[in-house]
Amino acid sequence: MVDQRQIPWQLQFVEYNDYRDVAAAISDMVVRGAPAIGVSAAFGMALAARQSSAKYVGNLLDFLDVAAVILKKARPTAVNLAWAVDHMLALARDERFDRADDIREALLAEAQRLADADVATNKRMAEHGAALINDGDTILHHCNTGMLATVDYGTALGVIRMAHEQGKQIHVLLDETRPRLQGARLSAWECEQLGIPYDIIPDTAAGYFMRRGEVNLVLFGADRVAANGDVVNKIGSYQIAVLARENRIPCYSVFPTSTVDLSKANGDEIPIEERDPSEVRAPYGCAIVPETYHARNPAFDVTPQKYFAGLVTEVGVILPPFTERLAQAVERAQNELLRGE
Ligand code: MRU
Repeated sequence: MVDQRQIPWQLQFVEYNDYRDVAAAISDMVVRGAPAIGVSAAFGMALAARQSSAKYVGNLLDFLDVAAVILKKARPTAVNLAWAVDHMLALARDERFDRADDIREALLAEAQRLADADVATNKRMAEHGAALINDGDTILHHCNTGMLATVDYGTALGVIRMAHEQGKQIHVLLDETRPRLQGARLSAWECEQLGIPYDIIPDTAAGYFMRRGEVNLVLFGADRVAANGDVVNKIGSYQIAVLARENRIPCYSVFPTSTVDLSKANGDEIPIEERDPSEVRAPYGCAIVPETYHARNPAFDVTPQKYFAGLVTEVGVILPPFTERLAQAVERAQNELLRGE
């Protein structure tokens, strides 16, 4: 995988031979972004199966149960991680496998299939979302939701990329996204690669640009979406959604239906990761204040569903009211998957 901590200074690839190192790479944010960590964890499970020397199915399943717990603990908020690990575990337990090697082979093939499916899903979302962007629009974007945050192409940034590829003249304002600076470091790097016109802005400048009438649309991704359409995403998403409403600018979250967790009635039921406060005191080791100073570092927040003009998924743009329509979209996507579409 690409070591995202080195971007934009270096494009460095890292390889892992131990699933525990994959779990550490997810915790340390070598890889980050909900879809990317989901697929990484799926490959982590495939790797675990190869690491185990178990000859019998039962012993291999015991090993995989332990690997699943370790991988799932890596980060708590993005549902894609737990979803992918559980999905791989369920496949491994399928009764049709009577040889451990068959499970090893099936897990690797499934991880690759999930990776390929992620790219296809992103492109479908991008096509639906790009229809919301007009020629000449300026779009405010939060965090990084592009090719780095997914297997390829991206969710919200994928929508922007599609509009750009369609020849629309657009401009993007990239929130720098403190404290890990995913917007400034990663989204700006992606825009550089793709030739998309952009400016990085301090997170605190979003309201300034909106109030001046310089923003036509607000787009961000999601780490987990509750049944009612509340969106848990990178810290700071909530405040820009509220500012967008105040300034009558449409705000959309873009995510695959695999990011929806219908078991959570609303966003407040979703666990929010609180990361080490040293990331606030000294981002990337660059000390802003002495390390004895007090700080808090919630990594995500909840944007209540009422702030969204719509939710963009691979099966289309969902307009409010969301609860029933979101459940229908999830069902539709699952049926398409079963039919192999
Ligand atoms: O902490 P991160 O960088 O993993 O958070 C990422 C986000 O919040 C993204 O917006 C979300 O995962 C969607 S990415 C396609």
